[in-house]
Amino acid sequence: MRGPPVIELRGVGKVYRTGEVETPVLFDISFPVQRGEFVAIVGGSGSGKTTLLNIMGLLDRPTSGQVLIEGEEASHLDELGRAQVRRERLGFIFQFHYLLPEFTVLENALMPCRMKGSDFEAAQEARMRQLLHTVGLGDKLRNRPGQLSGGQQQRVAVVRSLANSPALVLADEPTGNLDSRSGRVVFDLMRSLSRESGTTFIMVTHDDDFALEADRVIRIKDGHIQHLATGAGVAKATNPLRLAASNSPV
Ligand SMILES: Nc1ncnc2c1ncn2[C@@H]1O[C@H](COP(=O)(O)OP(=O)(O)O)[C@@H](O)[C@H]1O
Ligand SMILES: [Mg+2]
Repeated sequence: MRGPPVIELRGVGKVYRTGEVETPVLFDISFPVQRGEFVAIVGGSGSGKTTLLNIMGLLDRPTSGQVLIEGEEASHLDELGRAQVRRERLGFIFQFHYLLPEFTVLENALMPCRMKGSDFEAAQEARMRQLLHTVGLGDKLRNRPGQLSGGQQQRVAVVRSLANSPALVLADEPTGNLDSRSGRVVFDLMRSLSRESGTTFIMVTHDDDFALEADRVIRIKDGHIQHLATGAGVAKATNPLRLAASNSPV
């Protein structure tokens, strides 16, 4: 039997408040994401993608609505409760890799395990070595991040996002800072790791080519969901991005 969705948004709204100024950014966003899906979120600059991802990752709270992680409401937990859910169930990849320069590649990849205790870290080391090998960094384990190319650094960040065996990985423009060839390598890695491990991925991207290779595309415009396309491979037959554009009322 299929369990609850890995994540489900129910009527999520977000208003930023700065002093007297209120900026509404997201409006009544609802969708579930099932285990194993690879979802792309697309939309113009300032449309609310990062805000949405931060809310899904419990890094920020919605002003209204709920976020359920594996069936449990999580967005209204206190800071400690949300940190625990993040540590145990979520992985993150950002546009900038945020590797720690004074630690080795292997240590960086293991960093999320460290937060779960040294026994856990020791138990995961063989798996992380193997994963770094898989992504072509087997000979860089003892290097510092500064000795790696941008693409290689982001590959370490992808491996690191899987360190705690998360139910869900959230990636905010993970290829946005890379040249197109390195971006392609990083994207292909995420796609194949998600297939092999069954890990759910939600990725914000500016790149339509990558979005078309996702199982599903969620398009945001001005804080509203404009289009949902479902089904792996559907993207290849009917381009949901261009479909969305041609269906758009404006
Ligand atoms: N902390 C904040 N305070 C006030 N406004 C913000 C804040 N963060 C983002 N915004 C505004 O919210 C809107 C959506 O931003 P964002 O989620 O970063 O969009 P995207 O990632 O799609 O470019 C933008 O208009 C941005 O200026
Ligand atoms: Mg953004």
